[in-house]
Formats: sequence, structure tokens, C-alpha cells
Amino acid sequence: MKILVVCLGNICRSPLAEGVLRGKFEKYHIKGTIDSAGVINFHSGSPPDERAIRVAHENGVDISKQRARAFKKSDFEQYDLILTMDQDVQMELSRFTDSDKNREKVKLFLEYAESEGSLAVPDPYYGNLEGFRTVFEMIDLASENIATRITKLKT
Ligand code: 4NP
Repeated sequence: MKILVVCLGNICRSPLAEGVLRGKFEKYHIKGTIDSAGVINFHSGSPPDERAIRVAHENGVDISKQRARAFKKSDFEQYDLILTMDQDVQMELSRFTDSDKNREKVKLFLEYAESEGSLAVPDPYYGNLEGFRTVFEMIDLASENIATRITKLKT
């Protein structure tokens, strides 16, 4: 299973999701590849936001080695599932392709996780550390659900 997680800048939400989901794959012994990307290339080559690195570290997840990159059209061929952090990102990705097959690969992260409540992981960039902690909790819970869902697919 190859999963790409996509947000706007690839420095806050999707790096957290990449790190957390990778940990869940290890926990449940799921074989697969997880990467993340952003729809803007403004931060390409940069490490995650230091607040995201800190909150991940508080929870035993190291995301400090990740580097931001922009989403590219070939990602549609490379990945089985493309999980977006909110509806704006999802709409942006649908502009990258005319193919229904490609569009079907794009799903909201929280929807795929069958999370209750909001379907968007809020952008913590302009907020404070507490906002990053809230986002981490949402991502952690959703990633647990995604990993168990994938485990069931395989049995
Ligand atoms: P992310 O957060 O999409 O969760 O990585 C953002 C990071 C940077 C910007 C916006 C959102 N920005 O506009 O630079």
C-alpha cells in the first residue's frame, strides 16, 4: 500500500501525518510506503515547522529528517491512495488531472479514517503550539483508524 498525504505547505499537517502513519504501519506490521507533499512549492526543501517537530517529538515521533516537496502529476501513478488534509487541498489536486481513475485515489484523510465530526484537519500554521497539539491528536486518532482499516482490507 503506497500512501501520499497532502496539505498546503508540507511543513505542518502532512509531515505529522506521514510520521504518525509510518509509526502505525510499523505497529501493525503493514508493508507500504508513506510520503507527503504540499500543493504549494514555497517551502520545498525545508524541514517541517519547528512547532510540528516539537509536538511530534513530545509524542515519540521523529519528523525532523523530512523535507518538504510539492505535489507532482506523477504522484497519481506512484501512489494507491492520496489523502488530503482538507477540502481546499482536495479541490486543488483534482485540477492536476482529467482522469477519473486518478481522482478516485484522492480522499479526505479524516473521511478515509471514518472520523467523527469535522472532515478537515485545521491548518495550525498561524496558531500556537496548542493548535499543533490538537492537530497531532486528530492525526494520531485518524491514523490508528486508517491502519486498522488497511489491516482489515488485507485479511
Ligand atoms: P501546512 O501548513 O499546509 O499544514 O503545511 C501551512 C504551512 C505554510 C503555509 C500555509 C499552511 N504558508 O502559507 O506558507
